[in-house]
Amino acid sequence: MTNHLTVIDHPLVQHKLTIMRQKDVSTAGFRRLLREISLLLAYEVTRELELTTTRIETPMTEMDAPTLEGKKLALISILRAGNGLLDGILELIPSARVGFVGLYRDPETLQPVEYYCKVPGGLDARMTIVVDPMLATGNSSVAAIDMLKQRGAKNLRFLCLLAAPEGVKRMQEAHPDVPIFTAALDDGLDDHGYIVPGLGDAGDRMFGTK
Ligand code: URA
Repeated sequence: MTNHLTVIDHPLVQHKLTIMRQKDVSTAGFRRLLREISLLLAYEVTRELELTTTRIETPMTEMDAPTLEGKKLALISILRAGNGLLDGILELIPSARVGFVGLYRDPETLQPVEYYCKVPGGLDARMTIVVDPMLATGNSSVAAIDMLKQRGAKNLRFLCLLAAPEGVKRMQEAHPDVPIFTAALDDGLDDHGYIVPGLGDAGDRMFGTK
């Protein structure tokens, strides 16, 4: 499968994203919008979940009604900003299994180094959605997906809020089997690896740090 990029261009997503990009939005406002937008993004990224049928009784009659097939899906948050997307998605899919991947950048090699990884079992049989709001250089996303594949994940999706062309290219080269979903494809990266026009540091904006 060639990894393809889906830009979720639903008007509500685009409108909320425009508000989030604005520098004077409060931490509380940013967090609320992120939660709202993540519900809409989750709706799109789970479109290909497989269905089976279950025999049920309505007040009128019996029927074979659609239900999700297979193991519960896995949501993997790349710490720390991934947690902002995770919270909203869990409201929509409360039974999902959840994992966390922590990476830091080695100051000498500038490459991502794992400091934490705790993921659900049975990843080989679960749709696994990796969440991180910003796909910038792609280095941490590629490393996180490497780690998940080593632990058996096969059916992966990557979900972000903003993507830079550099990160999309890096992901497509390293993991052509992983579809990418984003609310916008921005112009590129600045000299510090920030997405432009972007929204700044997603973690700082959602947690009120700086
Ligand atoms: N991480 C962020 O939080 N913002 C960017 O623009 C790039 C990476």
